[in-house]
Amino acid sequence: MSPAPATASIPAEPLGTNAPPRHVAIIMDGNGRWAAAKHLPRVAGHREGARAVKRTVSAAIRHGVEWLTIYAFSSENWRRPAGEVLDLTGLLRQYLRTEIAELASNGVRIRFIGARDRFDAGIQQDLARSERDTAGNTKLNLTVALSYGSRDEILTAALALAQAIRDGRVAPDAVTEESFGGFLSTHGIPDPDLIIRTSGEQRLSNFLLWQAAYAELAFLDVLWPDFDEAHFAAAMADFSRRERRFGARPG
Ligand code: IPE
Ligand code: IPE
Ligand code: MG
Repeated sequence: MSPAPATASIPAEPLGTNAPPRHVAIIMDGNGRWAAAKHLPRVAGHREGARAVKRTVSAAIRHGVEWLTIYAFSSENWRRPAGEVLDLTGLLRQYLRTEIAELASNGVRIRFIGARDRFDAGIQQDLARSERDTAGNTKLNLTVALSYGSRDEILTAALALAQAIRDGRVAPDAVTEESFGGFLSTHGIPDPDLIIRTSGEQRLSNFLLWQAAYAELAFLDVLWPDFDEAHFAAAMADFSRRERRFGARPG
């Protein structure tokens, strides 16, 4: 018997007044625990997690979200046992070969952020092809963070800015938060309004540290493979009730 998904326990509360988030980012956590609870190998959790990604993309489109960013593999996840890394890269390869056409036909534009040079040449080609084949789509901007780590991203940006200043291409006085953001891998992407993490853990694990400055955070007690449309809808409803102040006074 599999444990019932947590959907039934989500209380129906009235909607708040906030417009839906333009950009939702998700830390998709809990695949291993999902598999362990079912006495299955971890890879079964990762496979089921890929199905949850498909549900989530559809839900985001239905809710009018413009930008969806998903954390699929962190720069620290390379520390996992070689067998699990192989399973994860295998699933990635399969996903890129079989699912991109469907994403494309649903109007999804896909981008990847992170150290793609750490993947083999075949995967790197598939990543580039997926970006190219969906570049004209406008319904949903899906960004997949792969071998991504935010500290490395910020450090790389700082070094690129330092080089631009040394070359005389940028004047130090002219550097702003916005122009610095242009050196990050997320340049051109608005900051996330809402960051969801599943699995009950309450941390960012090196995800979008710069971009998360004023994101609303939602930590859900559901394991990623069980995440469904109802959880997404509940997170949207919860967001609609948040009071976003950005340091100013309410009202
Ligand atoms: C998230 O699930 C997927 C990746 C980090 C690649 P985990 O594999 O971290 O699952 P738990 O946290 O061990 O349950
Ligand atoms: C964060 O999950 C990374 C992804 C979901 C891809 P982890 O499972 O790697 O995070 P920690 O180790 O629990 O912080
Ligand atoms: Mg985890």
